[in-house]
Formats: sequence, structure tokens, C-alpha cells
Amino acid sequence: MQDWHNYLKVAMPKGRIYKQASALFRAAGLSVPEDEDQSRKLIIDIPEARMQFIMAKPVDVPTYVEYGVADIGIVGKDVLMEENKDVYELLDLGIARCRMSVIGLPEWKPATHPRVATKYPNVASQYFRERGQQVEVIKLNGSIELAPLIGLADRIVDMVETGTTLRENGLIELQEMFGITSRLIANRVSYRMKNETIQQLCDQLQTYIAIKQ
Ligand code: PRP
Repeated sequence: MQDWHNYLKVAMPKGRIYKQASALFRAAGLSVPEDEDQSRKLIIDIPEARMQFIMAKPVDVPTYVEYGVADIGIVGKDVLMEENKDVYELLDLGIARCRMSVIGLPEWKPATHPRVATKYPNVASQYFRERGQQVEVIKLNGSIELAPLIGLADRIVDMVETGTTLRENGLIELQEMFGITSRLIANRVSYRMKNETIQQLCDQLQTYIAIKQ
């Protein structure tokens, strides 16, 4: 790869955010592929946009950016808060909107030894600590909604997007914690060394985000 100063290595989240993120890039005039995440290819060169996409598991995006193997990355605020990595948060992209909530069964009552299951143990622990509530946090890696249904935990902390998963499993939102959107993040050194290129990308994206909202 020549002229590396103008090239950006971008950690892109595979899965549900990719489609919206790549659509935003295209709207901002960058010719990035629409369905590249369908393939199993993990490193994608996009010379027209002077970018290289690193197709990452969403939860790993902040790690690639913190270590500087990616200059910038796109990641949900939920992951950013949970992972707490040393990166710059540059832009709220306003995509992949959802929320983090405390969820339980409709007949939920405070338990003597409350247990909360979640993919986000740091976020959940901080939330209950700040409210002076003692809970045992149990880390799970998916299908979190199972926990209150089979008696592993009395509540869960999880993402709600359409609400379908809750409805289909007879669960309700007990408290809405915070809203989530995807963010553009940058490695601290890259932000200095490639400032002009990164800033230009931010400006391009920002114009479109501003028009859209
Ligand atoms: C996420 C989240 C909820 C669901 C919310 O799970 O953990 O289960 O999506 O979306 P909804 O409100 O539109 O139903 P994901 O699909 O990432 O799978 P997982 O259960 O394996 O974590």
C-alpha cells in the first residue's frame, strides 16, 4: 500500500451495523461495498476510497483501534462503554439506534439476592452501584433473555432495538438506561499523524449526518 499517509485502516463491525455504516459512507461520497460482510474475507482494500476495511467482531473494534492496527473504527456506544478503551470518540454517526435497558418478567419483584445476567458486566455493575443496589452480575455471551425465563437471574441488562425479542419471550423493560448509536472512534496516534485525512472524513460524514437528522 503506497502513500500510507492518505490511507485509513478502518475497523468495521461485521453484522447488523455494517449495512448502515457502509450506506452512510456511500451517502458521504465514498465508494465502499454494500455487502462485503457477506463474504468471509476479513481484509478488504478499497483503493477508490483510500481505505482498508478490517472486518471485526463488533466487540473487538475498540481493541484494534486502541492498539493502532486500525486508525479508526465504527462501534456501538454500548461496546464503547463496556470496553472502556483508550481511544478518541470523534463522531456520533446516528445509526444503529437502540437502547440499553433493565429487563424482567412482568411479575418481577425485588429479590433477596438479586442476580442480573448480561453481555455488559461493566455497564451493568456501574449502573446498579451508582444506584446503591447490590446485585450479582452474571456474564453471558448471547440469548440473554433466557436468564429470567429459566431462573438464572431475576433481571437482565440488554439492548432493545425493535422490542421483538422481549415480546416473543414475555419480558418487559423495567428501566431504560441510555440510548445507543454507533460512533466513529480513532487511535490517538493516528489522529495526530493522519489528522487531515481523518478530519476530512469526519467533515464528509458530518454533512450527511446533519442533513439526515
Ligand atoms: C440483541 C440483544 C437482544 C436483541 C434485541 O441480540 O441482545 O437479544 O438483539 O433486538 P430486538 O429488540 O430487535 O429484538 P443479538 O441479536 O445480537 O443476539 P444474541 O442474543 O446472541 O446476543
